Parts: sequence; C-alpha cells; structure tokens
Amino acid sequence: EDQRRESLMIVSSYAAKYFHETMLTTDEGQNIGLSYFKERGFNADTIKKFELGYSPDQWEAFTGEALKQGYQEEFLVTSGLSVKRDNGSLYDRYRGRVMFPIHSFTGRVIAFGGRTLKTDKAVPKYVNSPESEIYHKSNVLYGLYFAKKAIREQDNCYLVEGYADVLSVHQAGIENVVASSGTSLTSEQVRLIGRLTKNITILYDGDAAGIKASLRGLDLILEEGLNVKVVLFPDGHDPDSYVQKFGTAAFKKHVDDSKKDFILFKTDILLKEAGKDPIRRSEVIREIVESIAKIPDSIKASVFIKECSYILQIDERALLTELNKMRQAKA
Ligand code: GTP
Ligand code: MN
Ligand code: MN
Ligand code: MN
Ligand code: MN
Repeated sequence: EDQRRESLMIVSSYAAKYFHETMLTTDEGQNIGLSYFKERGFNADTIKKFELGYSPDQWEAFTGEALKQGYQEEFLVTSGLSVKRDNGSLYDRYRGRVMFPIHSFTGRVIAFGGRTLKTDKAVPKYVNSPESEIYHKSNVLYGLYFAKKAIREQDNCYLVEGYADVLSVHQAGIENVVASSGTSLTSEQVRLIGRLTKNITILYDGDAAGIKASLRGLDLILEEGLNVKVVLFPDGHDPDSYVQKFGTAAFKKHVDDSKKDFILFKTDILLKEAGKDPIRRSEVIREIVESIAKIPDSIKASVFIKECSYILQIDERALLTELNKMRQAKA
C-alpha cells in the first residue's frame, strides 16, 4: 500500500523532470512552452523553483519514454499521466500543454495541471490529474510547499484562484500565497492553512464568479475558526494580471488599500445588490449575522456584532438577539 503510493510519487517526479527538461532543452519546448511562460512574465528562477514544464504535442512521447525507462503501466495510468486505449495501449494525457506540477505539503510531486496554449473554447483550459491514492484534490493547495515558511513568518496566507496567480505573486516577493486551483475552497484546505496561521486574505478574481467564491470561502473560513479578509481586483483582473501589469509596489498598495474585513466586504456587496429596498436590506443584515453565527469563538463573534451594528447603524441588542436565535437553531 505504502509501496504503491511511493511508486506513484516516483513516476510523478520523473514526469515533472521530463516535462521540465523537455521545455528547456528541445526546440518545441523552447519555442512553444518556454516562450509562453516568458511572455507571461515568469522568470527563470520561478520556472525552476516550481519545475514548470511542457508536454510535447504528440500522442505517446512521454508514455513511450517512461515505459522505455522501466516505469510500470499500472502507475502511469493510476497517476493519470497516461490513459489506456480500448486496445490496451497507452497515450499521453497531456499533449502540447504547459505543465504545472502540484507538490504535496512535503514537496513531493503528486499531480499536474496542464494548460492549453490554444484559444479554442472547445478545449478545456486546464486539465488536471485524476484523484488517486496520492492526490486528493480537496486536501491540496497549489504552492503550499513553497509558501509555508513565509505563511508562518508573515502569520498570514494569501489565497488566490489559479496557478498563474500563485506564480506571479510569489515571484513578486510575496511568498505566502496558495491557490485552491479550480475546486471551490474546502474545509480540509482551510485546516491545512490553519496549521500555519489563523489569518487568511482572499485575493480572488475581479469578476462575478470571484465575488461569489469569496462569499462562500469567507463563511467556510469563519466556520473553521480562522480570521478572513478579502481583497477584490478591478473587473477583468486577477492577482496575476494585476501584478504583472502594474508591478509589485502597486499590487501591495492595492492589497493594503482595499483589504476589507469580512463584515465590511459582505455588507458592501450585499447592500449594493439590495439597493434601497428596506425588506432586502433587512435580509442583508440577517445574512451577515448568519456569517457571524458561524464563528465558533463567541467573544470574537460579539466583537463583530459590535462592528456590524456600527456599520449598519442598527441596535446592537437586536443583532445579538438574532445571533442567539441562529446559534440555538444550529445547536
Ligand atoms: P490563466 O488564463 O492561465 O491566467 O488562468 P487563470 O488561473 O486565471 O484561470 P481562471 O481564473 O479561469 O481559473 C482559475 C483556476 O481554476 C485555474 O488556475 C485552474 O486551476 C482552474 N481552472 C480553470 N479552468 C479550468 C478547466 O477548464 N478545468 C479545470 N480542471 N480547472 C480549471
Ligand atoms: Mn488516501
Ligand atoms: Mn476566473
Ligand atoms: Mn489568470
Ligand atoms: Mn484567473
């Protein structure tokens, strides 16, 4: 059992090296993969540190080489690096994609994300490894291995949506950054961060999906007893595009200036949606108290009730009554 896990990690680490070397040393790798990363502003240090790579645009380039090197079919298929045809032969899952190895908490390669270079909407932008004994995507955060020291030191973790966001923000010298990578944030992922810090700052994309994911993530983080702040980016930007376009200083300034604690964030968003309608405004208040009710620490919760009462200009006792009702309903 442990032997199987080890074999899967060994073949994954071989694959990461293969994709990395292919990108750096072959014509196709350099012309297509490496130039793509360079155009996106990723430097040689970042490419090396995160072991970025390129998968040749052929059906069996990787699989053929891996089999030649003696890696077993079973592990190639279970790790998802190769796919079995009906006739039993294997082909490469990743073809003509730039490759992002995903590392475990201890730095072993356990999975991959592969990004297409085509703009064709019919092709999925990212292809990811399937679930396996070594890869449970709900327990993994992209970049965590490279971020954990900085997360402890800064006592804060920046949470972004995607691979490119992690790379660009890390490259900008802000190393306490991880991504939930496509899956919506899970409580396992929050607990993983919770081992390193109690403070999370959400930096999601500045679009409707990003806002929605922020509201969801915020409640999840509160339920796990962690503190959460939210930064939104201008519509159309994500942390990657913002820091690459405007630079590190502007990025830091944006984060500092627009960082909101969760009550302010949620109030702003919901009140904007509610407009002047008094009934909808009262629903907003209830929703915010609902978030506060998720906080396990009741002293902390009462501090937020105070803040909420101040922001919304509502009697604190009325909010407390509401909070207690929700607490009892939950218990
Ligand atoms: P870039 O276009 O490379 O900058 O990607 P992005 O990270 O900005 O992409 P986006 O904001 O669309 O998505 C955020 C994250 O969700 C990605 O980094 C992926 O981890 C994941 N994701 C996006 N599209 C797909 C997809 O088609 N399939 C899968 N499995 N994951 C996806
Ligand atoms: Mn398992
Ligand atoms: Mn997005
Ligand atoms: Mn992006
Ligand atoms: Mn994005």
